[in-house]
Amino acid sequence: MTILVTGANGQLGCWLRLAASGSAAGPAAGSAAASLTAAKNQFSADGTTPSHAAADQFLFTDIAELSEESAAMLRRLGGEAVDLSTVRLDVTDLSAVRELVRRERVQAVVNCAGFTNVDAAESQPELAELLNVTAPENLALAMREAGGLLVHVSTDYIFGARVYDTSIGEEQPGAPTGVYGLTKLRGEEAIRRVGCRHVILRTAWLFSEFGRNFVRTMLRLTAERPQVKVVDDQRGTPTYAGDLAAVILQILTAAESAALSAPDASAPAADSANVFNFTNAGECTWYEFACAIAEAAGRTACEILPCRSDEFPSPVRRPAYSVLDKSKIRAALGLAIPAWRDSLRKCLKSIL
Ligand SMILES: NC(=O)c1ccc[n+]([C@@H]2O[C@H](COP(=O)([O-])OP(=O)(O)OC[C@H]3O[C@@H](n4cnc5c(N)ncnc54)[C@H](OP(=O)(O)O)[C@@H]3O)[C@@H](O)[C@H]2O)c1
Repeated sequence: MTILVTGANGQLGCWLRLAASGSAAGPAAGSAAASLTAAKNQFSADGTTPSHAAADQFLFTDIAELSEESAAMLRRLGGEAVDLSTVRLDVTDLSAVRELVRRERVQAVVNCAGFTNVDAAESQPELAELLNVTAPENLALAMREAGGLLVHVSTDYIFGARVYDTSIGEEQPGAPTGVYGLTKLRGEEAIRRVGCRHVILRTAWLFSEFGRNFVRTMLRLTAERPQVKVVDDQRGTPTYAGDLAAVILQILTAAESAALSAPDASAPAADSANVFNFTNAGECTWYEFACAIAEAAGRTACEILPCRSDEFPSPVRRPAYSVLDKSKIRAALGLAIPAWRDSLRKCLKSIL
C-alpha cells in the first residue's frame, strides 16, 4: 500500500524515514518489509513478518525542503537506504491533499505535521488552528473518500487543566490550558466527526536526534553554561521518536490486518475507541530528565538546578502531571515498551 507521511522533515517524520528504510532497530536493511519486521521484533514477542509489507511504499511530504543538518543525520543513522526526498504538500490545502491522495492512490496517512511550538501558538492562534484542526480534518476527508486509514499524532497537552495523581487513560476527557492543547484536542474531534478509519496516537515529550527538542537544547546549554535551571514541578514521560515511529509501523500493520482498526463510522463507539497512548516507560520531571541527559553525556562541569515553573515566565500553563497510561496499546500490540532512560542512551549515542 502507499503510505503518505506529512511533516516528514520534523523529528517524528525523520524517524519514520529511518523506520521505513529498515533502520528502526539497527543498521539499515533497505526495505519497508525489513522495518516492519524490525518494529515487530523490537516490541513484540510475535516476530512474524506481515505478508503485505514488501509492497508498502512511503511518500514523504512536508511544506519545505529537508534541512541539510537533518539529511546528514539521516545518512549517518540509516546510510544510503534512507529516502531523503520530500514531496511538497501543505496539509492546510484541502485540494492539494485530495489531489495527491488520488494521484498516488494513497491508502494510509501518518500525520506528523503540526503547529508544535507551544508558546508561539498563544500569539498565532489562527495558524495553530489551521495546522492542528483544519489539517487533520483535511486528511480525514481525503482518507474517507479513499477508504484509507489516518494515523494522527496527538499530545498530553490536552490534559493541562486538571490535577491527576495517576496515569491518564484514553477515556479521560481532554482539559487543555492553552491554544496548542486546545487545537490538538479539536483536531482529534474533527477526525472523529469526519468519521474516516483512524487511529489517534497520543504521545508526550518527544526527543530525537533531529530538530528542536529538550535533549538537543540541554546538550547545548550544558556545554555553554556553568549552571542551568530546570523545572522540577512538571511530571511526564520522555518519548524517543525512534520508538514512536516503530510503533506507528506496527499500527499500520495491525490496522491493515484488522487487529487494530477503526470501527465502521456509522457504528456507535466511545470517543476513545480509536485513541491510544504511547510514550516510553517510566516517568520523571524535566529536571530529572536534564540530569539524566547531562550524566549520560558526561557534562559534569555544568550544575543542573531544580526550580519551579513560575520562575520561567510563559504564556501557557503546562500540565503538572501528564503521565499517559499505556496499557491499552501494550495489550493491543503486545508491546514491551522501552524505558525512557534506555532510549535516551541510544539517542545520545547517535548524537555524540
Ligand atoms: N514535540 C513534542 O514534544 C510532541 C509531544 C507530543 C505530541 N507531539 C505531536 O507529534 C507530532 C510530531 O511532532 P514533531 O515534534 O515531530 O513535530 P515537528 O518536528 O515540529 O515537525 C512538524 C513538521 O510539520 C511541518 N509543517 C509545518 N507546516 C506545515 C504545513 N502547512 N504542511 C505540511 N507540513 C507542515 C514542519 O515544517 P516547519 O518546521 O518548516 O514548520 C515540520 O517539518 C505533532 O503532531 C505534535 O503535535 C509532539
